[in-house]
Amino acid sequence: MLLFRWLLFIWIAVALFSFHSRNVEGRTHFHNKPKSNGSNKKAPVSHSPVHPPSNPLDPDDPGNPKSDPHIFNVKSFGAVGDGSTDDTAAFRSAWKAACAVKSGVLLAPSDCVFKITSTIFSGPCKPGLVFQVDGVLMPPDGPDRWPKSDSKQQWLVFYRLNGMTFTGIGTIEGNGQKWWELPCKPHRGPHGKTLPGPCDSPALIRFFMSSNLVVSGLRIQNSPKFHVKFDGCDGVMIEKLSISSPKLSPNTDGIHIEDTKSVGIYNSVIANGDDCISIGPGCSGVDIENVTCGPSHGISIGSLGVHNSQACVSNIRVRNAFIKESDNGVRIKTWQGGMGSVTGITFENIQMDNVRNCIIIDQYYCFSKRCLNQTSAVLVTDVLYKNIKGTYDGRSPPMHFACSDTVPCTNITLSEVELLPAEGEMVDDPFCWNAYGTQETLTIPPITCLQDGEPHSLSETSIYRC
Ligand SMILES: *[C@@H]1O[C@H](CO)[C@@H](O)[C@H](O)[C@H]1NC(C)=O
Ligand SMILES: *[C@@H]1O[C@H](CO)[C@@H](O)[C@H](O)[C@H]1NC(C)=O
Ligand SMILES: *[C@@H]1O[C@H](CO)[C@@H](O)[C@H](O)[C@H]1NC(C)=O
Ligand SMILES: *[C@@H]1O[C@H](CO)[C@@H](O)[C@H](O)[C@H]1NC(C)=O
Repeated sequence: MLLFRWLLFIWIAVALFSFHSRNVEGRTHFHNKPKSNGSNKKAPVSHSPVHPPSNPLDPDDPGNPKSDPHIFNVKSFGAVGDGSTDDTAAFRSAWKAACAVKSGVLLAPSDCVFKITSTIFSGPCKPGLVFQVDGVLMPPDGPDRWPKSDSKQQWLVFYRLNGMTFTGIGTIEGNGQKWWELPCKPHRGPHGKTLPGPCDSPALIRFFMSSNLVVSGLRIQNSPKFHVKFDGCDGVMIEKLSISSPKLSPNTDGIHIEDTKSVGIYNSVIANGDDCISIGPGCSGVDIENVTCGPSHGISIGSLGVHNSQACVSNIRVRNAFIKESDNGVRIKTWQGGMGSVTGITFENIQMDNVRNCIIIDQYYCFSKRCLNQTSAVLVTDVLYKNIKGTYDGRSPPMHFACSDTVPCTNITLSEVELLPAEGEMVDDPFCWNAYGTQETLTIPPITCLQDGEPHSLSETSIYRC
């Protein structure tokens, strides 16, 4: 493990040197693989081939070029792909076979619709494994068809993998409709009520305890809950995803990460009913660039510190994003009573189009109106908003900094923030509570409530340390 990390370090250093310093590992991890002749143990991280790699001259490959021995087509394992037959067993067998060889490719071919039940595809596998969906892959249609013995928390799960790629030109269809309509979902019960009770719905795709992952090219839609979720991962490269579900589909976050480090999210388009991208506790080194969100609930850090927990989030950069028709733009949300900190956050070059709460820090996040006032909070500090322009939905002010009573937000920097109402009068009273920071340029609308300097009250206690 140590050796692997050391080699990876050298490789990253080389990549950084030759590709003009993209300073988040998640980006450089994957983009440029040194030429491998099959014996190069330095780069277990695979490229993300939309078309399966085939190198008939690979010296490690005992097979021959006629039928590529790396490719494990699920149809050869008995999958039918007619949209109704349960193909789970075929996918499991194909996975087992692909997992066992170097650079194996599990292929779900185009022109087929495969249906499988909740499955954990687990490793460890040989390096360079690719799960390639060129056709359509989907779960059973709604809670009534979900096998009783299957987890209702998750559908496709990738677990304990290192250097795996999930790609293809196909679609992951979530069949989420019947889950969104469950009476326990917000306002879906009789007379617009929300019925109590467990309301489990599966995340469509989950990567768990894995490293050096590439997810690219796919269309992922109509998830019952989160579309793609990463927890306990290290080294994630997401590129060219197209994620969509209706504006009113509940809890359908596009990409959710937690306890995950070194992440790059690039060149993707997300439209859904909840956060476009959500970053939970335990994340650091997240680089987001060229992402279009909307309709959605924007790009969120949080929610953090629930049930008095410790949350640590650092070094998050969002650049060149376009956020439209969304309930929030760029948001940091924490519960009262947490510990830890959110630090080193940059939102830069963000175009807003008719967005409510374009810029918001909310340290009073709460599902009901009944959250108790508490004295501790997750500290929010070193946050830069630069070149944020466009239009806001005039129902709420475009800038809102509601920081904790006892733990002020510090070192908030505003530069080139120009937000105009999408229609009607300007709402020219940005809101601040206990927020400290500076304006490098005058903002539109003008903000006068940000306090200069450092607060006196911020006690140097260890509870904000991470
Ligand atoms: C393959 O890589 C090994 C070690 O990296 C090197 O010694 C060998 O010359 C290479 N072979 C070819 C054909 O490039
Ligand atoms: C973002 O988009 C621009 C313009 O299309 C492109 O030049 C740049 O390489 C993209 N960034 C990434 C990280 O792919
Ligand atoms: C919490 O504090 C606010 C402002 O100080 C106050 O208006 C509110 O009533 C308090 N809520 C509770 C539940 O104590
Ligand atoms: C304030 O935050 C910026 C990043 O937005 C950082 O570069 C700077 O060092 C911070 N200043 C202090 C005094 O910590």
